[in-house]
Amino acid sequence: MRSACFDIERCRVNKVTIGPIPYLVPIPIVLVGADVDGRPNFATVGDCAVLGLRPALVVVSLSAAHHTTRGVLARGAFSINVPTESMLPLVDCFGILSGKDHDKAALLPSVPGELTGAPLAVDCPINLECRVRSVTEVEHRRIFIADVVQTHVDERFVTTEDDKPSVAPLTELHPILYALDNGYYGVGKRIGTGYESGRALAARLAGA
Ligand SMILES: Cc1cc2nc3c(=O)[nH]c(=O)nc-3n(C[C@H](O)[C@H](O)[C@H](O)COP(=O)(O)O)c2cc1C
Repeated sequence: MRSACFDIERCRVNKVTIGPIPYLVPIPIVLVGADVDGRPNFATVGDCAVLGLRPALVVVSLSAAHHTTRGVLARGAFSINVPTESMLPLVDCFGILSGKDHDKAALLPSVPGELTGAPLAVDCPINLECRVRSVTEVEHRRIFIADVVQTHVDERFVTTEDDKPSVAPLTELHPILYALDNGYYGVGKRIGTGYESGRALAARLAGA
């Protein structure tokens, strides 16, 4: 199918190059938790993404200088905690202060999970326990690919039918989103359904 930008000249005319910026937005903001010298610590992180559902894989990119990174490297484990909009001041603060100088665990209660080294932030409705599979160094970054070994969801956001749990829609979870304009955002409305919203078009093209 021809897109509106099929003509590369027209595409160039209508677009302005802004340099090599990874403008993939929105970015979900999470708190990455680790056990550092026997004490939980949390860092605010945007560079975190799903790599696959089966197996359940995630990637997190942390600066080597962070206190949290030291714990992840030492234990080979971390948690990903999904905060809610109401936690925004704390979440931003955890991206400003370092556990090297401040006891962030005192501000965010956590409990151990099944995995040693992955503290679960009680106030976050979703916690993932992650075991590091590989670490790649890119300049000052330590990029961790990890298996999600367990997922905890606040029971208020889970319904179970025929023994199959399903998690409440995003509009009820109120995660914090971030964009490269340095803005925090909330979730907007649902606009479609995966493998469904394009079905009529796919059927038309397949039949053509
Ligand atoms: C919105 C936001 C997003 C951030 N994303 C990342 C990130 O993806 N990776 C990273 O290494 N640091 C990121 N940071 C910075 C760390 O959270 C920050 O340096 C923090 O103080 C590290 O804490 P720690 O030393 O206790 O581990 C982010 C900060 C903010 C405010």
